[in-house]
Amino acid sequence: MQIPTNHIYLATILLKRRQNLAKLINFPVILWSGSRSSRNFPANTFPFRCSSHFLYFAGLPIENAAICLEGEKLTLFMDNPPPSNLLWHGEIPTGDRLAEIIGADAAFPMSELKFYATNAATISVQNPITKITQSEVLNRDIFPANKAEEIDLELTKAIIFLRLSHDDAALTEIKQAVAVTMEAHKAGMAATTNAKFEANIRAAMENIIISDNMTCAYPSIVTVHGEVLHNEEYFHPVQKGDLLLADVGAETSLGWASDVTRTWPVSGKFSSTQKDIYDVVLAAHDHCISQIKPGVEYLDIHLLAAKVIAEGLVDLGILKGKVEDLVEMDAHALFFPHGIGHLLGLDVHDMEDLGDLAGYEIGRERSNRFGLGFLRLNRPLIPGMLVTIEPGFYQVPAILNNQEMRGKYQNIVNWEKLEKFSDVRGIRIEDDVLVTTNGAEVLTQELPTNTDGIENLM
Ligand code: GLY
Ligand code: MN
Repeated sequence: MQIPTNHIYLATILLKRRQNLAKLINFPVILWSGSRSSRNFPANTFPFRCSSHFLYFAGLPIENAAICLEGEKLTLFMDNPPPSNLLWHGEIPTGDRLAEIIGADAAFPMSELKFYATNAATISVQNPITKITQSEVLNRDIFPANKAEEIDLELTKAIIFLRLSHDDAALTEIKQAVAVTMEAHKAGMAATTNAKFEANIRAAMENIIISDNMTCAYPSIVTVHGEVLHNEEYFHPVQKGDLLLADVGAETSLGWASDVTRTWPVSGKFSSTQKDIYDVVLAAHDHCISQIKPGVEYLDIHLLAAKVIAEGLVDLGILKGKVEDLVEMDAHALFFPHGIGHLLGLDVHDMEDLGDLAGYEIGRERSNRFGLGFLRLNRPLIPGMLVTIEPGFYQVPAILNNQEMRGKYQNIVNWEKLEKFSDVRGIRIEDDVLVTTNGAEVLTQELPTNTDGIENLM
């Protein structure tokens, strides 16, 4: 684990976060960092990913640790590694040293944690082994994070309130992740001309991220089959005439994420059909971003994207009818079936471990509508909130060949016209947008989105 050089700043920020939490709750809190999961045998593990709630208050991804928060007080719990560890893993900072760095009053062995457990609230971690420990130490059932009850629910709501709006320290980290991500996308574009397979482009992009000592915030999507929304396969050949969709984002060593998608032509030039559809998606992207400011409902941003996409597809002769009616009947969702974006922070879908508690304002629930049900965020925007804006167009066989869909939208889609756009399987354009006090800042704006800018870069 790399210790940040400016750890006095880190300790100051963590104190401020504790003070903010103390204004919202009046009971102690224990947060666990989690542990590694085994890959195929115990000593061969997946990389460690610390619980984001722990990271928010402890600052560092300390494995197998816990913290107790009581008002402004921070206590660290961890077991110092046995001497045999030195052989395999080298020297690791002691609990006392880490406590000093993060501004904790003291560090104690894990066995002491139970003495702090009375009436303490927690949030369930993802790691199943640590979940058992949570129950044992607190001596009660711990419900999954999205079903928390009583003080755990109160804590969850307080943490959501704090994490919905990013402080300067978080934004500094996120901007570092964003800068590396933009370089990764440029490297991906540059590598495309000589690439034979998607894997070659993925490697060029992740090379930048790894070289900057960051990790990927989520499994990269680098594919000529952008219509498979979370495609994690990289074996397809890339051919002139294909569009390459790359959804790749870096995460800093302290856990802060970025999330960026660009779509570019393998040949370096968009075909006229690809450009036509790309410009529809870009119009939705630009319109949505232009509307972002405090007080605006994110649902309205999603509906704006739906409207602009429907409008563009009517203009191209792919959809038939009045735009308002088309959106009302979810015709846009035939080609744009997901939400316009989500929260971004320590998690790429920030706080999605809490189900919709973070993404949805209290009293709101997911819609059953085909065109709204995948919306991950339904809240009014507030300053400091970081969201993605990621409209897309996809020809998903499972949707377009579905008998029920075909029946419902038979006379709405000009299917013959649609066939002329067969070289457009998937397009998405995704930027990371910070809500400011009076508008928005596009953190990823230095990475071109228009077709000229992309062709020039290539
Ligand atoms: N970057 C993947 C997603 O937003 O789901
Ligand atoms: Mn995203």
